[in-house]
Amino acid sequence: MCGIIGYVGSPTSDNTLEILTDGLSRLEYRGYDSTGVAISNSSLDVYKRRGELTELEDVLPDQSTNGSAGIGHTRWSTHGPPTDENAHPHTDCNETVAVVHNGIIENYQQLRETLEADGHEFDSETDTEIIPHLIEAALERDGDIERAFRYAITMLEGSYAVAAVFSGRDEVYAARNQSPLVVGIGDDGYFLASDIPAFLDYTEDVVYLENGQFAAIRSDSIQISDERGAPVETPVETVDWSTEDTGKSGHERYMLKEIYEQPRALRKCLQGRLRESDGSVSIEAVEDMEKPKQIHVVACGTSYHASLYAARLFRDRGVPSTAFMASEYDVDTIPIDTETLVVGVTQSGETADTLEALREANRVGAETLSVTNVTGSSASRETDRVVYIRAGPEIGVAATKTFAAQLVALAMISITLTNDSAATFVEALRTLPELVQSVLDRSRAKEIATEYADSDAYFFIGRGYNAPAALEGALKTKEITYKHAEGFSAGELKHGPLALVTDKTPVFAVIPRDGNFEKMVGNVKEVEAREAPVIAVTDAAEAVEPLADHVLRIPQTDRRLAPILANVQLQLVSYWIANELGRSIDKPRNLAKSVTVK
Ligand code: M6R
Repeated sequence: MCGIIGYVGSPTSDNTLEILTDGLSRLEYRGYDSTGVAISNSSLDVYKRRGELTELEDVLPDQSTNGSAGIGHTRWSTHGPPTDENAHPHTDCNETVAVVHNGIIENYQQLRETLEADGHEFDSETDTEIIPHLIEAALERDGDIERAFRYAITMLEGSYAVAAVFSGRDEVYAARNQSPLVVGIGDDGYFLASDIPAFLDYTEDVVYLENGQFAAIRSDSIQISDERGAPVETPVETVDWSTEDTGKSGHERYMLKEIYEQPRALRKCLQGRLRESDGSVSIEAVEDMEKPKQIHVVACGTSYHASLYAARLFRDRGVPSTAFMASEYDVDTIPIDTETLVVGVTQSGETADTLEALREANRVGAETLSVTNVTGSSASRETDRVVYIRAGPEIGVAATKTFAAQLVALAMISITLTNDSAATFVEALRTLPELVQSVLDRSRAKEIATEYADSDAYFFIGRGYNAPAALEGALKTKEITYKHAEGFSAGELKHGPLALVTDKTPVFAVIPRDGNFEKMVGNVKEVEAREAPVIAVTDAAEAVEPLADHVLRIPQTDRRLAPILANVQLQLVSYWIANELGRSIDKPRNLAKSVTVK
């Protein structure tokens, strides 16, 4: 999805352009199809291009010829195709103001018609372009920049994070509603971004803007105000992500780096939360909660698979629980009351569908909890409670380490909420990072992936706790290989999907030795009889070897944690197939890291 960077340095600074382009490169992972920057000096210099950031860099002037205030944008097309004209920033007729915007303005058509009737000329098909023209119209009436910006924002309906820079002014104006914006406080200037990694090279001190807030950023100050213009005191927070976390650390791609970071991510997730003395768990955010009457878990994509896992865990521990795709969560038709806990699982904390589901839950008075990776994200601020999964920044579009950390955090939440003894589970959680490391050290996924890279399709099966792992294995594979991949609860195979199984469709079976082992053996035989190559992901290699073409081993652990180990193998399989096929693994086509539109 779109990304915003803004910067105001001291009047003599000569690195604004460098900071903006560096910020844009840090935002690339979110997904985009055009980029642009605007710098204020005696006039307003705007550069924008469809395509990769390198296309923009080709047309930028010498880095040292810029002014001290500027904004930049990576656009992921919604209104109008990816063209130079539709790329942000957009300007007014006289080029006095340049604007970048994330989100969707729902009433733009009507505003555009009014502005056109008043003589404003538009250059693009975007909803965003109405904003500079609204500002221009207000400036013509009043002449005050801040009031003009505020007026334009109050005219908008929909979701937005907006930043504007004016000709001849060393300042950036910003506002947000339902789309994230964070201010970075540096030694030599102030930053603005939709996402912290954009300026993490320069500062870790941040101020999160809330919905309805405005910011005026100058080289030596920020002023944050509410909708009515009253100043707002905002706490400065220090993020615990480092630039090392956002680099590739010697790996060819972020996704591979993040797969290999899982032991560390899990250690951080567990740190200080396991009480080995009495074999209990303490997740501070939920410690004082009564066992809920029922739990709804809402999420999208990979996080939805984590939610399926969580709902099973909660049910296993005696709490009626259901996972919902956030986009299908409808409080008018689903039984929900004030004794319901609604858990939103979202790595980014900014997924529009998940936020909407949580807002609906808040509206009807349910208790809400977010499980997220991003401190200060919208989900974290809009729920009653928040549990951080502490996986560190995830740059690859495909979720990997955050999925593992979500499962672990949800496992700890389930133990804390139900307050039943769970000593063996806790002990298994404690050793999990080492077990993940051993899978990474010994995996044969690369050679198996290479052997099956030209298959027609891939199927993934599992039962019980491993059914979400099968779904996740398939999602990862389709996302980064662009090949057909489906995950099934193994029992469902013979109710339709078996018709698709051939000798050209490898089947990955997650088959640890648990209560479902014999049934899984039956399912493996079903696909074997259709000549499908079988790759078993198992902790019972000796028993499974005679049935499978290949075995991807996982160590034995608590049955509830096997899917985390199996998933590491499946992540590696999808990665190496995609690598063999030469795909754009970190930024798969058509996808964005953070899906901030419904
Ligand atoms: O940030 P979230 O966890 O809310 O994101 C939800 C999905 O968009 C996300 O998990 C998506 O499915 C991943 N790209 C899958 O790898």
